[in-house]
Amino acid sequence: MSDPSRPRAGALFDVSGRAFAVTGGGSGLGLAVAEILLDEGATVTVLDHSAERVERETARLRADGRPVRGQVVDVTEPGAVDAALCATFDEDGRLDGVFVNAGISIGSSYTDPAWRIEEFPMDSWQRVAAVNLDGVLATLRSAAGLMRPQGRGKIVLTASTAGLRTDPMVAYSYVATKAAVVSLGRQAALDLAGSGVTVNTIAPGPFRTNIGSGFDPGEEVWKQTVPLGRIGHTDELKGLALLLASDASSYMTGGIYPIDGGALALSHVL
Ligand SMILES: NC(=O)c1ccc[n+]([C@@H]2O[C@H](COP(=O)([O-])OP(=O)(O)OC[C@H]3O[C@@H](n4cnc5c(N)ncnc54)[C@H](O)[C@@H]3O)[C@@H](O)[C@H]2O)c1
Repeated sequence: MSDPSRPRAGALFDVSGRAFAVTGGGSGLGLAVAEILLDEGATVTVLDHSAERVERETARLRADGRPVRGQVVDVTEPGAVDAALCATFDEDGRLDGVFVNAGISIGSSYTDPAWRIEEFPMDSWQRVAAVNLDGVLATLRSAAGLMRPQGRGKIVLTASTAGLRTDPMVAYSYVATKAAVVSLGRQAALDLAGSGVTVNTIAPGPFRTNIGSGFDPGEEVWKQTVPLGRIGHTDELKGLALLLASDASSYMTGGIYPIDGGALALSHVL
């Protein structure tokens, strides 16, 4: 017999009435996160440096009557990130979670001679580091500044399987910055432990989004590198996002959660 005083699964995952912000929420994985949170009754602020994406996607989501707002913000500008999160906090009177998701990938694998270590273009390194590392730090810093005094909050960073092992399909800047995101997440989890704020990191494998526009090495490669044999659909991130945003993850902090069709279970990439 089930105990009627025990929370049902629905209650554990309930985020209705809560307020979230998602960086890079105008496309791909960030947009999927915004969608599931809105579907489950939360208020969401989409932060993205693309005005066109912010306008288009928030208009689409708002058309369904859902409480979404958009802010055009470049995460490489710490003052702008801070102002946007503070505005969200003021408007909603709370900030229950921040998905620190904005990220870019420039260039290609070292198997392309133009992207070997000897030739590696420093300007592209700096641009990727500015978004994937400085932008993550700036967002994490502002989110923690609002959440620690509040005594609660969920911070979720987006790293990559490329931050957890070698990955000959992407550039040095991408693997290095994503490994750094993994470290930042762990360290911040310790810093914030006991404050009521948790920090977890997701490590996606290949998903079809705009980051890899035009990059699809084909089914044969996915079959070799991803045990499930295919690239992921952004909807397939939604369950993990809701888990990490809700009370269902109350005892989870400092964790790294691959979502990769089994790719990390392989001992080789190619
Ligand atoms: N798609 C994948 O296969 C994959 C795999 C592992 C990790 N990731 C990570 O997931 C995250 C989301 O990427 P995605 O695949 O959804 O890509 P995407 O390009 O579809 O979405 C990224 C969003 O971030 C925004 N953005 C980029 N630079 C920004 C900046 N400086 N300030 C604010 N917004 C900015 C873009 O406008 C875009 O809307 C990234 O951190 C990426 O590294 C993606």
